[in-house]
Amino acid sequence: MIIASNFKTNHTRISTKEFLEKIPQTPLQIRIFPPFTTFDNYNLPKNTLLGAQNFYPVENGAFTGEIGKEQLDEFGLNCVLIGHSERRNVLNEAESLIIEKFNFAKKCGWEIIYCVGEPINIREEGEAAVNEYLKKQLEKIDLNYEKLIIAYEPVWAIGTGLSATLEQIKATHSEIKKLSRAPLLYGGSVNVDTILNIVNLNECDGVLIGSASWKIEPFLKMIEIVNNNEKGVI
Ligand code: 13P
Repeated sequence: MIIASNFKTNHTRISTKEFLEKIPQTPLQIRIFPPFTTFDNYNLPKNTLLGAQNFYPVENGAFTGEIGKEQLDEFGLNCVLIGHSERRNVLNEAESLIIEKFNFAKKCGWEIIYCVGEPINIREEGEAAVNEYLKKQLEKIDLNYEKLIIAYEPVWAIGTGLSATLEQIKATHSEIKKLSRAPLLYGGSVNVDTILNIVNLNECDGVLIGSASWKIEPFLKMIEIVNNNEKGVI
């Protein structure tokens, strides 16, 4: 079971260090995506990895403001987020760059959490439209890549407090599982009250959490809930 926390543009070097020091040793796979400025050589429990929220698909070069492989290597980072809806929609990251990043990360052998999710107008059209939309988002990447993890994050559920329903997650996960055997996460307003029912869905292999994971107490609580759950380790 994978529990991932996306800090987005939150936390400083000091608060990140304090946060990471409190992460317990558990059988769960924990992934933390803090801002670049907080990277350091932390002593993390087994199964806990730091990842990069973003990178530019180059070793190094003239790409002002970007971080390449050389910079991630310095911290031993080999886990990345690609396709997050905030990068797609707020930062206007083009699909072509997203695919380029996937191919680069695959070539590097990095673990990839690849995010997909439909906007509200597509959800309102119904399940068939959602499935078609997600299929398009997934069709240009290698769905058999062995270090691929897919995160289903409906755009309308991110940071809104409005999670997709269990039925919606279940139905969408089943469709994605037809396309890929990669572990499958759900993200979008997951919190201490909702995490258990979500991870207990048959095809759910974990969660990608934003706002509810930015404070250590609820994050530890969510780890405890999943860890004590009988579905246990995948
Ligand atoms: P929230 O949990 O704040 O909805 O964010 C989800 C997310 O974007 C994780 O990547």
